[in-house]
Order: sequence, then C-alpha cells, then structure tokens
Amino acid sequence: MKTALTGIKPTGVPHIGNYMGAIRPALELTRDYRCFYFIADYHALNFIRDPKELKQNCYEVAATWLACGLDPAQSAIYRQSQVPETFELSTILMCFTAKGLMNRAHAYKAMLQTNRELGRVPDDGVNMGLFTYPVLMAADIMLFCADVVPVGRDQAQHIEMAQDIAQAFNYVYGCELLKVPQPLIREQTQTVTGLDGRKMSKSYGNTILLFLPPKQLRKQVMRIVTNSQVVEEPKDPDTCNVFAIYKLFATEDERNALAERYRAGGMGWGDAKQTLFEKMNDVLTPYRERYDAFMADKPAIDRILADGAEQVRPQAASLLAKLRKAVGIV
Ligand code: TRP
Repeated sequence: MKTALTGIKPTGVPHIGNYMGAIRPALELTRDYRCFYFIADYHALNFIRDPKELKQNCYEVAATWLACGLDPAQSAIYRQSQVPETFELSTILMCFTAKGLMNRAHAYKAMLQTNRELGRVPDDGVNMGLFTYPVLMAADIMLFCADVVPVGRDQAQHIEMAQDIAQAFNYVYGCELLKVPQPLIREQTQTVTGLDGRKMSKSYGNTILLFLPPKQLRKQVMRIVTNSQVVEEPKDPDTCNVFAIYKLFATEDERNALAERYRAGGMGWGDAKQTLFEKMNDVLTPYRERYDAFMADKPAIDRILADGAEQVRPQAASLLAKLRKAVGIV
C-alpha cells in the first residue's frame, strides 16, 4: 500500500467548507493508502505567538479530525513536535536546499511585495522560520517516505520544492534514500457556497462553523442571503444559496424533493432555511457530540497523539540512521 501524508496547521475550529473541501477528502484516502496525519505545530510557531492559543488550537484540530472519523487504530495521527527526528532531517535538508529556491517561494515573495508597496525594507517581518518553511515541510514528508501528499493548490509549490530537495540529496550521494513525493492536488470540484453566495472562506466572513450548537447553527442558516421573491412564487433551486448548501448534506431523493417544493411555489425562504437547518443538524450532531466529548477530555487527546508519535518514530529513526550513514555522520 502506498503512503499518503498530510500536515494540518493548527488554525482552530474549521468551517463547513474546510470539512467538505479538505478534511473529508483527506480522510477518504484511508481506503487506498496508508495514511499519516499530523499537526504541524512547529510550522504554526511562525504565525501564532500566543502559547495558550497555540495549545488550544492543537487540541481543536486534533479533536476535529478525530470527530470527523480519523481512526487512530488505522491511521497515524501525531504532533510534529513529538517526532523530533523531523528536525534532524530538516537540518540535513537545509544543506541541500538552494537559497535561490527559497527566494522563489510564493508566500515569501508576496511578503516582499507587500513590504515594497508599504515602503518598508524588503525583508521586514520575515524570519528564518518563515523563509525555510518549505524545508521543514519537506522533512515532514520525506521522514515517512510519503508517496503522495494531499494538499490544496496553494501548497503545490511547496511539494515541488520538496521534490527538488530530495533529488538534490539523492544526486549528491548517488542514492534513492529520499522518496520524491507526488502532490495530490485537491481540485475544487465542490466549492462550498458561503452565507453570501461567494465561496465559503474565513476571509470573507461568510462561514458556518462545523460544530456549532443547534441554536447558533440555526442562526447562521437564517443569515444565508436569498432574493426577495415572495412565498407564492415558484423558485429556482439552482441559483439559491440555501439549496447549494442543502445539496451537500442531503441524499439525492431529499434533494429532488426540496427542488420540487422550490419549483411548485408556496414555500418561503424561512421554510427553506428551516429545512436546511434540520438537515444539517441531523448530519452534524454526531460529529459535534464526538468533538465536544474529545474537548472535554484533553488527556485522551494527549494520549492518542503521544501513542501516534510513538508508533511512527521507529520508522523515522530507521530512515535517519541510513541518512547519517550516507553522509558520514555516525
Ligand atoms: N503547509 C501546509 C499548509 O499550510 C501544512 C503542512 C506542513 C503540510 N507540513 C506539511 C502539508 C506536510 C502537507 C505535508 O496547509
């Protein structure tokens, strides 16, 4: 079985778009791959400077993935920081990473551009953690000889960089010790519509969070933007934001039934939203209950993550032993 590995930034509670677009597809890979999921907590240190927030976010993402169906008995789940071999590999990889390669990173270039526009010195606010972010990411991936890395489009360049770094190392030592990873890019076949009809995104402020209690979930659903058609008018499901979200949760029969009610007229937007709320609440309640149970038992999360790290570390250590030997550090 091939290996799939993906890192999760600890950015807190996800929204429906994150779930449909990233979490669910990543978890579906367990059917065809041996899967590794880890919390990229040292990556997050580049952005989160509040220790409480970092810690809390780690719990939230761990609880999220576990609640969404990640089975620690089947897949590996761990914190990057608990697999210290990552950082030794990162140090090795640093020596095979051209600075020029890092200069070309989109995220870094965007910062330079912003600084230029604001009249600041180009490297203002850029630290080495940020500059070498792709190297640490390459270490995450190669440590477990991942064949594929499921990521969004925005991460494609990072995977290409990992390929370059692996090839540079293998070339110098005439070996194949580092597996050259392939990206598994999630094409957004199914973008999730947000409250205002634009793509659901944190930056648009149009999200519905995944684990809202029923009352708040209902409130969010009632905020979905609709047109000004009155109750009697027949309505078009295909241009309606409420229906767009309903589709993601309903079965085909349920979808057809609601589309019928739209076209027949006599159904107001309040009614449509109530139908959507009930459907979402039915589907999401078990997820929310599992999430809440994990968040109420953080020691259980700690145990799962520590066990996960313990399980994968021997594999990491064995690769590092080979790499040290290859470079002459024993
Ligand atoms: N950089 C990724 C992101 O921003 C997170 C990440 C860190 C990652 N290490 C990884 C993803 C290794 C895949 C593989 O989402």
